[in-house]
Amino acid sequence: MVAKVLCVAGARPNFMKIAPLLAAFRDATRFQARLVHTGQHYDAKLSGIFFDELGIPRPDIELGVGSGSHAQQTASIMASFEPVLDAEQPEGVLVVGDVNSTIACALVAAKFRLQRPFRCSVGERARPLVIHVEAGLRSHDDDMPEEVNRKLVDAISDLLFVSDPSGVALLAKENVSDPARVHFVGNVMIDTLLGAKERAAQSKVLDVLGVRGKPYGVVTLHRPSNVDDPVNLRRLLEVLDRVGERVSLVFPVHPRTRQRLAAMGVALDEARWKVVEPFGYLDFLDLTANAAVVLTDSGGIQEETTVLGVPCITLRENTERPCTVSDGTNQVVGTEPAAIAAAVEHALSGAIGKRVPPLWDGKSAARIRDVLETVFAAA
Ligand code: UD1
Repeated sequence: MVAKVLCVAGARPNFMKIAPLLAAFRDATRFQARLVHTGQHYDAKLSGIFFDELGIPRPDIELGVGSGSHAQQTASIMASFEPVLDAEQPEGVLVVGDVNSTIACALVAAKFRLQRPFRCSVGERARPLVIHVEAGLRSHDDDMPEEVNRKLVDAISDLLFVSDPSGVALLAKENVSDPARVHFVGNVMIDTLLGAKERAAQSKVLDVLGVRGKPYGVVTLHRPSNVDDPVNLRRLLEVLDRVGERVSLVFPVHPRTRQRLAAMGVALDEARWKVVEPFGYLDFLDLTANAAVVLTDSGGIQEETTVLGVPCITLRENTERPCTVSDGTNQVVGTEPAAIAAAVEHALSGAIGKRVPPLWDGKSAARIRDVLETVFAAA
């Protein structure tokens, strides 16, 4: 029997993780993959362009849920996903990352009873295996919605594929330590980056922005803790504006942040800021690869800058990706002006060397495929 694995993607940071998995799964013989797009992100700039640029096949199933509060969005994904499981009867449900689509689909799958049990390496199962790619990340900050998602998804997953070397020990502290369950495989997002780097270098984005050959910084901000409170956002922009006196800043603005800036009536000084729409994958990769420094509150960008050897300043109090600090180019500085200024000077001094965490080598998706082949061999 060939098992069926539904692979779920919903929001921008999911697409660069699902792309290499679907590519690697094409060679699988024990299971076949089908792609479910929840529609959490739906704008061409946050979704469609990644499918085109990364060669992701059209989704087999689209839930089309759209935006909403956390409860509305999560509930809507769950209610739409359950009938899909009914119709598809999959032996596995694979989720990536930590967005609302991740927890919603994992939770539905964890409670779903199949019409017919199946056999796999863990024995007879009446429920699909829940498979989490990017398990074992913790910021230890429950004010982050993603932290809640990460903890819950890991707790109910049957197979946990870990990207950060610290993740295996961290899961063991939470009593998730069965080696048949937890696998350190490296980082699938880096598979995508390494595969796309040459194509990204053909991008014209540096010419369009007029920054080719010049030192510049890239700013991205979208964490609710930074952008949803007007006082915090205004303060952060004032600090960054001072950084802009040191090095000009390119600021691709996430829709959440654009709404907040518009509501506050903020206008950034064009002498220091290039305020632009979000980029597709290739343009953003080229922009990041050539930056003098990146200032961000994103999770994935901390990892991408590490592999590119570009200094990253994380505008948060914590990171769930500690190897980007211990084995990479990341400085986690928070939002205090003096700390950011010092971090910028350190970044621009050239003192930050290039180091790459173990197994971030472009082969992570193939490792996951190989584990799944073994797991489903008994099916
Ligand atoms: C979500 C993820 C976050 C991830 C981020 C990447 C959760 C809890 N959060 O946050 O972890 O880092 O995606 O972008 O899952 N909007 C659009 N177009 C879209 C989608 C959204 O304009 O295609 C606007 C909507 O007004 C929406 C707002 O952006 O209300 C926020 O979108 P949402 O998906 O709720 O959260 P993100 O901030 O994008």
